[in-house]
Amino acid sequence: MKFKNLLALTFLSVSTIAFVNAQQKLNPEIEKKIDVLMSKMTIDEKVGQMNQYNGFWDVTGPAPVGGTAEQKYENIKKGLVGSMLTVRGVKEVKAVQKIAVEQTRLGIPLIIGFDVIHGYKTLSPIPLAEAASWDLKAIEKSAEVAASEAAASGINWTFGPMMDISRDARWGRVMEGAGEDPYLGGKIAAARVRGFQGDNTFKSPLRIAATAKHFAAYGFGGSALEYNAAEIGTNTLYNQVLPPFKSAIDAGLRSVMTSFNTINGVPASGDKYLLRDILKNKWGFNGFVISDWASIREMIFWGYSKDENAAAKSAVEAGTDMDMEGGIYVPYLIDLVKQGKVKQEFIDDAVRRILRVKYELGLFDDPYRFLDEKREKEIIGSKANREAVLDMAKKSIVLLKNDNNILPLKKSGQKIALLGSLAESKNSPLGSWRIGSDNNTAVSVLEGLQQYKDNALNYVKGLELTKTEPTFLTEVEYNTTDKTGFEEAKKAAKEADVVVMVLGEHGFSSGEARTRTNLDLPGLQQEFLEEIYKINPNIVLVLNNGRPLTISWAAEKIPAIVEAWQLGTETGNAVAQVLYGDYNPSGKLPMSFPRNIGQVPISYNHYSTGRFTNKDNNVFWSHYSDVDKTPLYPFCLRIELY
Ligand code: BGC
Repeated sequence: MKFKNLLALTFLSVSTIAFVNAQQKLNPEIEKKIDVLMSKMTIDEKVGQMNQYNGFWDVTGPAPVGGTAEQKYENIKKGLVGSMLTVRGVKEVKAVQKIAVEQTRLGIPLIIGFDVIHGYKTLSPIPLAEAASWDLKAIEKSAEVAASEAAASGINWTFGPMMDISRDARWGRVMEGAGEDPYLGGKIAAARVRGFQGDNTFKSPLRIAATAKHFAAYGFGGSALEYNAAEIGTNTLYNQVLPPFKSAIDAGLRSVMTSFNTINGVPASGDKYLLRDILKNKWGFNGFVISDWASIREMIFWGYSKDENAAAKSAVEAGTDMDMEGGIYVPYLIDLVKQGKVKQEFIDDAVRRILRVKYELGLFDDPYRFLDEKREKEIIGSKANREAVLDMAKKSIVLLKNDNNILPLKKSGQKIALLGSLAESKNSPLGSWRIGSDNNTAVSVLEGLQQYKDNALNYVKGLELTKTEPTFLTEVEYNTTDKTGFEEAKKAAKEADVVVMVLGEHGFSSGEARTRTNLDLPGLQQEFLEEIYKINPNIVLVLNNGRPLTISWAAEKIPAIVEAWQLGTETGNAVAQVLYGDYNPSGKLPMSFPRNIGQVPISYNHYSTGRFTNKDNNVFWSHYSDVDKTPLYPFCLRIELY
């Protein structure tokens, strides 16, 4: 579809979603049980339910304040912990769950949360890539597979799906979302909720509660800087930001996570208008709200709350029900209630919501129902799960260009040079949100292509992408100096009929805290591409990336470009099947690709302006002086092999 036509889809009226009074349904039996339980709870035990601790692994934020493992165990015993995150595996979950159930006064089970973003152990493509499939059934299935593996590992609740609309590819977290369009974003959000939660009865021990995040406007942070302030008007809030959340709630979503940003000056974790007025009252959301990591405490650093007491009070009054690793609720809220400074009703509302989800998950009926070592072994990494993520991976690939029918590759008699260190990487294709998975477990593009044995495949790395192997916690350092492999790569290109170059970003270059100010191919890759092009222009460029890149040179010169994102565990098999024409790629871009960084933020659904076209043949119309104002590749772009 041409960009021009897409403008017809622009919708600009302030929608009514924020004003519709709705209610998620309550189960009267569960409500009665909650009444009975809450009548026995002390204020300490109630606030304890609102406290979540991290396990003892990698962290995405400031170091945990919950204390040492021993202190955390002690607090669980005292009934001062309602939930844990990043505890995983049947054995480990059982160990903490047993303390809560067997050693606390009331035996209230913990709810165990984890970031299951695009799979647990068996990884699907990154969420942005999945969105490129526009295939809601496949996306739902992918979330179902993720839920089954996470649940089999003892996890009850995922911090996903992420549904932040963003039009700014500089922001690293666009890889976690569904792109720039709130309508598509809403459809995908609901599909993912269905995939995680099933029919919302949780009768199956392989479904888990889902979380819509990050509420709200995280994708509109100034300058695409992580953890930044968002200044947005009501039109953007209602028409762009909120629709996916509303759609997820209508699908029966059980939890919502606040965002790190402020919205028009108010930190999201303390934003009563968003959390209480819109989410809980107008939309009738009856699950619970969890803060993002330490974001209640961060309200102090924002300059919004003067100290911990003020942060605790603002957050609970606004409607943040659970404190993720902020260490704020237990030490401060109990006293604030005892001193009459925070009304008991806010605590009761939060605790009721948290207990409700625990009851719904069946944790009170059998706190160990997710804990079955046999099931854990059978389900995680099963053949069926591998097949499902392969299907999703193939559906996520977008063919951006295919001049002279250079693709599909011929099945025999073709000499192929495969270049670029990403081609052999078994790590980068896993993306950056894979904390339940193991490093180096993806099928590489090299391994995928090697399965087509009747062709001469010559793999030459040519260029090492990064200086060292990146990790979840460190900055990716691209190789900007070492060109020693170029000559060997040129020789291979010269001898080849077709050159397949796998270039792009390392998987750890996108995701949280990975904002980039330059979206060109990082490091020496552009130079590498141009050098090879001089030797043999018959190039198929396979892109691995977590966001739109600025690839204007390649778009003009390179005959075939395949957008292969980071496709997860089955990456190499999916890419090989597409390159060889065994699968006709049908993905469509969920986000516009800019011509250059200056066009960002860019999206199809923008205002038309009073001077959209150049009617009078002079400069006084809405345009750029130095580049066409359309994107390089528009939202929804799709071509096919045959
Ligand atoms: C992220 C969340 C994530 C949480 C727990 C935060 O840094 O923003 O998306 O769920 O960490 O890992």
